[in-house]
Amino acid sequence: MIEEFFRLKDGRVVHIRESRVEDAESLHAFYKAVTTETEFLITEPDEVLGVAEERALIKIYQNLFNRLYLVALYGSKIVATLKIAGARRKRMSHTGELSIAVRKDFWGQGLGRRMMELGLDWAEGILKRVELNVVDNNERAIKLYENLGFKLEGIKKRAVRLSDGFHDIYIMAKLF
Ligand SMILES: CC(C)(COP(=O)(O)OP(=O)(O)OC[C@H]1O[C@@H](n2cnc3c(N)ncnc32)[C@H](O)[C@@H]1OP(=O)(O)O)[C@@H](O)C(=O)NCCC(=O)NCCS
Repeated sequence: MIEEFFRLKDGRVVHIRESRVEDAESLHAFYKAVTTETEFLITEPDEVLGVAEERALIKIYQNLFNRLYLVALYGSKIVATLKIAGARRKRMSHTGELSIAVRKDFWGQGLGRRMMELGLDWAEGILKRVELNVVDNNERAIKLYENLGFKLEGIKKRAVRLSDGFHDIYIMAKLF
């Protein structure tokens, strides 16, 4: 079980732990909020999972050996998530897709890095490959991934359309 209290650069303390079924409502509220704060998540607020779907997803993560779903709480509010979704097919079950989101008020405080470190430590014992997609101008995220050993593997040209126009998506991966 992954669980820790982590002190941010500004002194606030967040509680990082694995997600629980009873987090579904807070997670729904988190995704609604965070998708209004950034376009880098691609998902628009009206596209986030409903509470029942979120609850089902948490259960799937709990039941699969190659999946991890971390949440960070500030008080009772979820302020960050990190998912590593191991593939379901046996021949690819050593690979996982990583996604991370942090509420804007908590950016630049070391929380994203800490969540990534915890996720990658977990992955190291279970997976051989973790991959992710990131929009070409998401400098903060790209820097973080590079610093943690992710390498650029390919570029999906014009893969996403944001409010300022089309962007490429970088495929990055870390091998263990
Ligand atoms: C990208 C994201 C996860 C990073 O989390 P964070 O908590 O803000 O990041 P951290 O404070 O741990 O800093 C991470 C890196 O950002 C960089 N960084 C920090 N502050 C920065 C700033 N003000 N400007 C630019 N880069 C900065 C640093 O290089 C740092 O890397 P390091 O720890 O290796 O030095 C977070 O900003 C976020 O959720 N953004 C919106 C959603 C998103 O982009 N998700 C990822 C989609 S692929």
